[in-house]
Amino acid sequence: MSESDSLYAQIGGQEAVEAVVDDFYDKVLDDPLLQPYFEDTDMQALFAHQVQFVSAVAGGPVDYKGDDMRSAHEGMGITDEAFDQVAEYLAAAMRENGVPEDDIETVIAEVDALRDDVVGV
Ligand code: HEM
Repeated sequence: MSESDSLYAQIGGQEAVEAVVDDFYDKVLDDPLLQPYFEDTDMQALFAHQVQFVSAVAGGPVDYKGDDMRSAHEGMGITDEAFDQVAEYLAAAMRENGVPEDDIETVIAEVDALRDDVVGV
């Protein structure tokens, strides 16, 4: 797949990814199950990392520069339930921003592949 027909390009590049991440975090931070995990987090730094991360997963010309997933989530006690909720909000945010269902499925499959690095580590 060339960069120009990557999922990243199809969904509208950096601007579209930022809109998705923005809506995604509104949902996450509104949820009482998830709020406690993010209490001490510098949201601006996390937002920047998350945009890079989603862009890289979607095949964009952005290299993810954060910690690996396991070290980033180690010791947080993240449950399967919390993970599922986060994945659900990411899918909903993509849907609200007009990302086609096929592409949403592709991104969620990539995210689900990271479950073992995020849950119970
Ligand atoms: C769906 C899979 C997930 C992905 C792809 C993901 C991705 C990321 C990324 C890229 C970072 C930034 C790492 C860095 O700053 O170097 C991060 C940090 C973080 N994640 Fe996740 N995450 C996922 C699931 C979750 C879940 C389910 C929770 C909690 C319910 C969570 C809570 C956090 C918190 C609190 C931080 C910030 C750590 C800090 O304060 O530095 N993540 N995550």
